[in-house]
Amino acid sequence: MENRLLEIKDLHVSYGSVCALWGVSLHVPEGSIVALVGANGAGKSTLLKTIAGMNRPKNGSILFSGKHITGLTPEAVVNAGIAMVPEGRKLFARLTVKENLELGGYIPRARPFIQKSLEQAYELFPLLKTKSNQIAGSMSGGEQQMLAIARSMMSRPTILMLDEPSLGLSPLVVKMMFELVEELNRKGMTILLVEQNIYQALKISHYAYVIKTGKIVLEGKGEQLLSDPEVQNAYLGTME
Ligand SMILES: Nc1ncnc2c1ncn2[C@@H]1O[C@H](COP(=O)(O)OP(=O)(O)OP(=O)(O)O)[C@@H](O)[C@H]1O
Ligand SMILES: [Mg+2]
Repeated sequence: MENRLLEIKDLHVSYGSVCALWGVSLHVPEGSIVALVGANGAGKSTLLKTIAGMNRPKNGSILFSGKHITGLTPEAVVNAGIAMVPEGRKLFARLTVKENLELGGYIPRARPFIQKSLEQAYELFPLLKTKSNQIAGSMSGGEQQMLAIARSMMSRPTILMLDEPSLGLSPLVVKMMFELVEELNRKGMTILLVEQNIYQALKISHYAYVIKTGKIVLEGKGEQLLSDPEVQNAYLGTME
């Protein structure tokens, strides 16, 4: 049986009186890429932020490696092994590449390995090594996304949650970004990928969920959803 590394059950989240998630359930098997796709405002970031401990759910539970993590602080969630690359990257724009990376490793779980993690980050992203003293805010969009991913890897996560990594990048860089996600997965990383680039996300994922106004409306294997007429009509428009 597949090992459910992350399991979300019947999650309800509200912002004041506005309900953003209405009973969302999904799971991410260990070693897989699971995509969560949907339109603007569907609740994708809300779900990732709730898993990351930044929103408190009204109802429902979040299990990680079989343990309840619902209600933990964001620091405790990262320290448990869940890293998030937030929408818009959220780098420390005035700090250097190296300083950004080091800050990603300052949690108890990762601190003893900071030097090793840095070497691994530079191995995976040689460009970041050559630019290690550059100010993060002066890097290109694609480089900044790469740095954001590398920084979150510094916490030595078991699962990586990516919130729209392709946002604002040129087509060629978008392609590289998806290849990178696949490479991380081949190396053993479990990935929960949020995307509006539905075609690409479904293509690389093992399983996917479609979210619409706070509810999961469809789910299935990535390839299967790509050929689903409903997905094609509603989300893909004219297919590539
Ligand atoms: N801090 C907040 N306060 C109030 N409402 C919020 C807040 N954050 C999100 N919302 C609302 O919750 C709903 C879901 O937003 P969310 O950011 O999760 O969507 P999303 O699927 O990530 O969209 P996008 O693709 O545009 O990033 C939206 O209606 C949004 O306006
Ligand atoms: Mg979002």
